Amino acid sequence: MTILILNGPNLNLLGHREPDIYGHGTLEDLEARLRAAFPDITFECFQSNHEGGLIDRLQQAHAQKIDGIVFNPGAFTHTSVALRDAIAAIDPPLVEVHLSNIYARERFRHSSYVSPVCIGQICGLGRTGYFLAVQYLTGADR
Ligand code: DQA
Repeated sequence: MTILILNGPNLNLLGHREPDIYGHGTLEDLEARLRAAFPDITFECFQSNHEGGLIDRLQQAHAQKIDGIVFNPGAFTHTSVALRDAIAAIDPPLVEVHLSNIYARERFRHSSYVSPVCIGQICGLGRTGYFLAVQYLTGADR
């Protein structure tokens, strides 16, 4: 089983960026911990600060028939019709994840363009959200 861990803008700065909100761990550390926690899963990890790069990777994941996607679209969550359309256009099951509780933050973060076309959303649980999303995609609890 192959799962894509897809992260949007500024998530390459995890560990340095607003650590009171996003924690002290880096993205590389998160990816390594996912690999260690799920040794039977092949992870493909991709981060981009560019909307088009994320759309290209989503389309590629569809073409390669990847088994599932965990996606933190960062700030594009609140702005991007194009990402929503890309998610709606592809087959692999996709779970939206946010480290912070976007509903407890600024008003402009309260809406997600992508949520309606995702299987579900996990937010506010920090890095644990990524692990729970992978667990869901493995079908372990279904
Ligand atoms: C985020 C929440 C977004 O509002 C923000 O723009 C991010 C990170 C999160 O993981 O909590 O970049 O997606």
